[in-house]
Amino acid sequence: MKIVSKKDDEIIVLALPSEEVKKGDYLLIEDPNFKKEMVVQVYDETYIDSSNFLDEIVRDEVIKSSTPSIENDPLEIGTLSYMLMDLRFLKCKIRGCFEDGVFVPSSNWLPSRASSKIKHITVGELYSKVFGKMDLNIVIGVTLDNQPYSISLHNLDGQLNIITGRKESGKSHLSKILVSKLVENGAYVIIFDINNEYSGIGKRRDGSENELSKKIVTLKPGENFKFSIKYIGRRTLINILENVLDTPGVTLREFIRIIDDLESKGCLTLKALGETIQTWKCNEFVRDAMLTRYYSILSSKLFTDSIEDSFRFEDVFEHFKDGFAMVLQLGNRPPIARRIVVEAVLNKLCDLLESNKIPPTFLFAEEAHLYLRETYWDDLITRMRHYGIFTTFITNQPDAIPVGIYRQADNIFLFNFINSNDLELVSKASMVDTETVKSLVRTLPPRHCLVIGKAAANLPCLIKVVQSNFQALGETKRFFRGRVQFVETVSNRLAY
Ligand SMILES: Nc1ncnc2c1ncn2[C@@H]1O[C@H](COP(=O)(O)OP(=O)(O)O)[C@@H](O)[C@H]1O
Ligand SMILES: [Mg+2]
Repeated sequence: MKIVSKKDDEIIVLALPSEEVKKGDYLLIEDPNFKKEMVVQVYDETYIDSSNFLDEIVRDEVIKSSTPSIENDPLEIGTLSYMLMDLRFLKCKIRGCFEDGVFVPSSNWLPSRASSKIKHITVGELYSKVFGKMDLNIVIGVTLDNQPYSISLHNLDGQLNIITGRKESGKSHLSKILVSKLVENGAYVIIFDINNEYSGIGKRRDGSENELSKKIVTLKPGENFKFSIKYIGRRTLINILENVLDTPGVTLREFIRIIDDLESKGCLTLKALGETIQTWKCNEFVRDAMLTRYYSILSSKLFTDSIEDSFRFEDVFEHFKDGFAMVLQLGNRPPIARRIVVEAVLNKLCDLLESNKIPPTFLFAEEAHLYLRETYWDDLITRMRHYGIFTTFITNQPDAIPVGIYRQADNIFLFNFINSNDLELVSKASMVDTETVKSLVRTLPPRHCLVIGKAAANLPCLIKVVQSNFQALGETKRFFRGRVQFVETVSNRLAY
């Protein structure tokens, strides 16, 4: 391999057909005159586009087709010309360089074109040189060279992660692997599970329980997940009224008066709230507006006056000291109930974290645009992250996540996109260059993803995600699956 040219952060390398280099591979350019090595990543490859070659290819084909039997080439000129035709230009992005063994993620140095040696470096070798020794490593896939690929949980801790890609590409699968590894290592994980698929983490494929099953808490809002009004507190209740139930100012003010009144008397319950609204001295329209909201709260079935039924986060943290996955099944809930659950959960978690009653927690949110209100996006990545909620967003609609969130993401796991608009958006918003993302992600098969960000030491890597030994669940239902083909049976019948 030889360097051909350099422009900005891009280097073009010439490779022989025998030199096996694939898209996504890393190359190390060693210049004997300097004690430095440049790290570049191949993001695309092309033929040598010279008109001479084109002329020759055309001429060759014409001659071959007109005189098919003549094959006399004692000097093997043909082989040589085929080799020339198959020479490739590797388009590479400069990712940084090693100076005295230390990785610097930028490079302002130009290696010698004549004397530099270019060699292939595996991701494993590269990462061990960059990261040194890391602990809490979890294997999440294999690299293109079939070597195990691991990331350190330290690089997920305190971070904002995004998993995105088209439908059925394997996003939820990766997310479940991350959840299971976090829980295995003692972390506290809360999941907004929109397809009711995460509780399968606690089961082997044959349905028996695995070592994690004791740490999985499956909660169904309205059934085994209900709060008492007193526990959820004044602030959260007001937030639900204001943000989810769109309560107008005047009505909200009356509501707050009632809540304060009941709180001062020490009897803030669902029942008392209903009764007080009925007898409260106020405008009839306001009363009606209050009652509508009250009934919405009732029908969400998320609140209860019974102390035994009332859920408390602190109890779960207390009980599962060495980690848990709290799966909040939002699947069969109406949209408004979903949003009440999310509002209540996020508000309460913030309260608890703020007052140091619970330790930092990981939050996994699938298709968050379905239940997260506008202002929460920023809140989750600034204020809530500061308190100790570390979010991972999972979505197949990349435009549903505000662009600003991508910029602040620490890790992005990018699966395949075919839609060019989606690809365009993601490539512009992610922290690596557009060309790499577009070229590598467009051709990704399912179950493969590009890991970008801290976990990958800012050296993007293509991986195939590992299989799991837990139940997948959440598979898309199909109408025709398991049906015998109609035409076949009819023709069979006709044959007899
Ligand atoms: N790396 C993998 N190994 C084995 N099966 C996988 C892998 N990734 C995904 N799958 C399977 O493919 C199907 C679709 O994956 P899923 O994660 O649900 O897709 P998405 O969430 O992107 O729509 C599921 O049945 C899942 O079990
Ligand atoms: Mg999914």
